[in-house]
Amino acid sequence: MSATLDDLPIRDDLRGQVPYGAPQAPLPVALNVNENTHPVPPEVADDILDAVAIALREVNRYPDREFTDLREHLADYLGHGLVREQVWAANGSNEVLQHLLQAFAGPGRSAFGFAPTYSMYPLLTRGTGAEWRAGTRAHDFTVSAESAAAQVAEAEPDVVFLCAPNNPTGTPLPLDVIEAVYAATRGIVIVDEAYVEFAPHEAPSAVTLLPDRPRLVVSRTMSKAFAFAGARVGYLAADPAVIDALRLVRLPYHLSALTQAAATAALQHAPTMLRMVDDIVAQRDRISATVSALGYQPYASWTNFVLFGDVPDPARTWQALYDRGVLIRDVGIPHHLRVTAGTEQETTAFLDALASIDSGA
Ligand SMILES: Cc1ncc(COP(=O)(O)O)c(C=O)c1O
Repeated sequence: MSATLDDLPIRDDLRGQVPYGAPQAPLPVALNVNENTHPVPPEVADDILDAVAIALREVNRYPDREFTDLREHLADYLGHGLVREQVWAANGSNEVLQHLLQAFAGPGRSAFGFAPTYSMYPLLTRGTGAEWRAGTRAHDFTVSAESAAAQVAEAEPDVVFLCAPNNPTGTPLPLDVIEAVYAATRGIVIVDEAYVEFAPHEAPSAVTLLPDRPRLVVSRTMSKAFAFAGARVGYLAADPAVIDALRLVRLPYHLSALTQAAATAALQHAPTMLRMVDDIVAQRDRISATVSALGYQPYASWTNFVLFGDVPDPARTWQALYDRGVLIRDVGIPHHLRVTAGTEQETTAFLDALASIDSGA
């Protein structure tokens, strides 16, 4: 007979916790984890394959521990005069965030974010033995500079997460909120820009705030706009001293030679990799307009997904969509559901399925 967690000498602070568990169901239309549902363009895939093949010939050796080439390409992609000494990368931005928490949170410390926000923040925080503290947002899920600064000043966290734009709500975060939060804390301020490529092109990134803010970190990922979720590549920009801190906690050779080769090759084709972004944004806006016409309440989104409210029974609607072959996400906000913008066809399948469902109102 197999043991249960209760039978094991597991850390007391992990008892009763629930792992990350977005369903991975093999449905024809999967719009539940904010992936880019467009595959990597074939011409880029060929180049990536060539790069991986070359790296494979030397895979008997440990990879470049400092992933120098990749950091240089990431710095170039980020622009704003950033150099590789200001860039770090890991296996997905989840691991980037974990490195930050290992270095700056840990036992006896705390991390803070404005709920509802990305569900991995509390899990990663507690994983390092730190305490998670949740702040609040307005009814429309925005947070003002004044309120954000006051809440952070009161909580006195060691790490603040600002998800910009926010998952699961899609809400943009103006730069004045980031400036106010930075001024209100002595802790590390992480701006998670996982979805920033889906924001309006003229909207400034938090990267512009990095000069003279050594405790500010801007985290990014290749999982979303770059259509590279399966390759697991996330990165950040920060003061070189922050990068030095992360070297203390990372595993040696944490980025495999194959990952480094694939990501570097993909970055050389950034415009092609990103070419579906405008189409995804168009599908997102189509979702907002159509769910609104169907009587639901979509929230403003600068991401590749839409949160919509006025859903009388989210579990019932989720199941009815599932039964029609469409997987979306019940993020646990009462009367709300979240859907990722897919290809035009997938988006149409979702909208048609939703229109065919009696909402039960
Ligand atoms: C806000 C946010 N940050 C980070 C991530 C993690 O992305 P990855 O680990 O694939 O880079 C996600 C994924 O959904 C996200 O929504």
